[in-house]
Amino acid sequence: MSDVAQPLLSARNVKVHLRVHGRIVKAVDGVDLDVLPGQCVGIVGESGSGKSTLGRAMTRLLPNVEIAELSGSVKFCGDDVLAMSSDTMRALRRHRGLSMVFQDPLSYLNPTLRIERQMAESLRHLPDRRAVQAKSVELLQQVGLADAERVLGLYPHELSGGMRQRVLIAMALAPDPQILVADEPTTALDATVQYQVIQTLRRLNQERNLAMLIITHDLGMVAELCDQVYVMHGGKIVEAADVFTLFEAPKHDYTASLLAAARRLHQTKALGGLA
Ligand SMILES: Nc1ncnc2c1ncn2[C@@H]1O[C@H](COP(=O)(O)OP(=O)(O)OP(=O)(O)O)[C@@H](O)[C@H]1O
Ligand SMILES: [Mg+2]
Repeated sequence: MSDVAQPLLSARNVKVHLRVHGRIVKAVDGVDLDVLPGQCVGIVGESGSGKSTLGRAMTRLLPNVEIAELSGSVKFCGDDVLAMSSDTMRALRRHRGLSMVFQDPLSYLNPTLRIERQMAESLRHLPDRRAVQAKSVELLQQVGLADAERVLGLYPHELSGGMRQRVLIAMALAPDPQILVADEPTTALDATVQYQVIQTLRRLNQERNLAMLIITHDLGMVAELCDQVYVMHGGKIVEAADVFTLFEAPKHDYTASLLAAARRLHQTKALGGLA
């Protein structure tokens, strides 16, 4: 028997080329990536490098724009995600544990419904209202919302940004996922709340052995959370390393400059320059 774990989610030679105003944009151009069970993997890279498009391809939630080429394979537990019908894919997301969280929680919450109703949507498999209520409270508590009963009675606009993001994470946890793909889950939040959401993700990773694919600009978040990191540039992976190697000895010039820029930003912030 082999000791090497099979990847939960893996991409091989994935290409997503878009047609934008008659021009081809090679948003993702031949990417290989693996997430092992329980592993936390980060994708970093400058704006426009293709991180979100890759995350979307890996969950088959492709951008709403003409796709000139979609090729390669994305496998989730051995099944080819790119080759599935959208119904099979929806079932897989709902029942087999591939969940996704996006950057902007407000656009994924319905402003006219209380949180209770929206969470119930993700818990339709449960037998009755009582079970739904109990599970909703449990999920909200798991993401660190202690006053879960109160939160259930509120509308999205009555929550803070960090609370909304945590509600979305709680909803993503409803199908008891094996992996959570999160695109910039903390970008819209202020620093303190960012830290809380990162701690929440870290706890879910440790306590539930939830694997994660985290897309972010934030190298601090990578350092806090990730085991393995992929650096994207111009639609390609330019470096893949475990988090210690990446921070200690970046191989690629681009990674070194990304780290240097993050350190400068950190220093400027520490000096109050970007207050
Ligand atoms: N819906 C879209 N319409 C037009 N172009 C798009 C669309 N989505 C992605 N692109 C293009 O694909 C390329 C990769 O974009 P993507 O959003 O994946 O980058 P990113 O690394 O996530 O950037 P950011 O850090 O700013 O979120 C960019 O050139 C972008 O302009
Ligand atoms: Mg993006």
